[in-house]
Amino acid sequence: METPSESAVSSRVSSPPPATFGAGGPMLKQFDRSTASSRKGSQSSTPPITVVGIGNKVAKPDYSEAKIVLAMVGLPARGKSYLSNKLMRYLKWLEYDVKVFNVGQLRRTRARQQAQQAGIRENHTAEFFSHNNEEATRRRDQLAEDSLEMLIQWLKDGGNVGIHDATNSTRSRRAKIEARVAKEKGMSVIFLESVCNDPAIIAANVALKVSSGDPDYKDMSREDAKRDFLRRISEYEAVYETITEPHLSYLRITDVGNQVTVSHINGYLQSRIAFYLMNLHLKPRSIFFSRHGESQYNVEGKIGGDAPLSPRGMQYAKGLPALITDNIGDAPLTVWTSTLQRTIQTAQYLPYNKLTWKSLDELDAGVCDGMTYEEIEQAYPEDFAHRDEDKFNYRYRGGESYRDVVVRLEPVIMELERQENILIIGHQAILRCLYAYFHNLPQADLPYIKIPLHTVIKLTPKAYGCDEERYALPIGAVDTHRPKPGTPQQPHATPNTAREYYGNDK
Ligand code: SIN
Repeated sequence: METPSESAVSSRVSSPPPATFGAGGPMLKQFDRSTASSRKGSQSSTPPITVVGIGNKVAKPDYSEAKIVLAMVGLPARGKSYLSNKLMRYLKWLEYDVKVFNVGQLRRTRARQQAQQAGIRENHTAEFFSHNNEEATRRRDQLAEDSLEMLIQWLKDGGNVGIHDATNSTRSRRAKIEARVAKEKGMSVIFLESVCNDPAIIAANVALKVSSGDPDYKDMSREDAKRDFLRRISEYEAVYETITEPHLSYLRITDVGNQVTVSHINGYLQSRIAFYLMNLHLKPRSIFFSRHGESQYNVEGKIGGDAPLSPRGMQYAKGLPALITDNIGDAPLTVWTSTLQRTIQTAQYLPYNKLTWKSLDELDAGVCDGMTYEEIEQAYPEDFAHRDEDKFNYRYRGGESYRDVVVRLEPVIMELERQENILIIGHQAILRCLYAYFHNLPQADLPYIKIPLHTVIKLTPKAYGCDEERYALPIGAVDTHRPKPGTPQQPHATPNTAREYYGNDK
């Protein structure tokens, strides 16, 4: 049977002869059908109807077997929420379903309800955290258990990694978590202890807590809030037991970036989590993104290829060093490019160490490589429509999807987390994927993020997100952004580095 795209190809035969490198021309790559059966989509029970292999939408990998309870351990102000948030962003970028269950939020929500229903005054002062206060200790234990129950239910409903963001600071609390999770078939628990011995980091965390509009301290002066929070910490210190239970699956991170202890970590996802956490550090730094200067293909409206820079692209390459050095001064910087000549040419005048990464090469457009969007629409009208329908999941015939690119960029993310100041001279699709990781943008929006030519994007990681600045050089360039069809509002990140307090938890 003739497929719709085959009919499109054969109908071109009677049209005027195609250009040598154009759609249907002799240099157009032919789709090798013999490879189609060797690539199978996900075995997920509910694949999208249109999944038929390559050149079409490809279903998300089946992660339904992944069920992990990740229970945080640590005194207050030791970066537990920071680590929970980082890990959540990373795993969500890889399309795992992850949710943080923060016991402090549950406490506040319940206290607010009690205040409304029974007129009982909310009390979030250190007194509530004293282990000599029996009634409060009972209530805190109950909150931790209720939060764990919600987490387990959420995992049963389809979640992959539930993060129990609480102090879990005693052996008995950890034993309860372990016993409860053991009752659930297919679920495992890992404890993640954050230890911090660096007084400067603890002081910064305390300052962040009391200055960030924390709802526990909303009616207090900063001085009173700080005094109370330090007292809360000492209440916990009085009973704190670091993890020594020899049988537990756990990771202990000491002074983020300094030392990691790994014990009984098993399986792919657990190891991946461990590996990610081992690469984190807290040193202040910035990550710069720039697309290559305008290329000859950009000017001609073609995608892919390995074209050199246009004259305006060369001007950008010459202007870039001054922009970067003005911004970063004497600080060390490493430049990463792809292996394609347009990024290498753009980096050529930069006076810094340079590395080329194959993983940074542009999304492979397969048989459409070297074509214009108009040519693709004409040659493969069905594919073109599928791509517009679901761009993240669409895989070019013989090429890649955005998801494929995310998977191949994972080592780049790992290395970016390990490094300090980095400038990436990359490609539109690649920078969209990296940008979405840093700003926690959903997969559906990712392929439409605006990354204009001749513009440097500077991201500065903060405790709960990234600050962003953009610097455009006044050198004209074509606009290669194709908006999401039928959507007037295009996605854009509104950088938010504030800690979220999830006020709506039930
Ligand atoms: C909190 O209520 O803020 C945290 C409770 C805990 O995990 O000990």
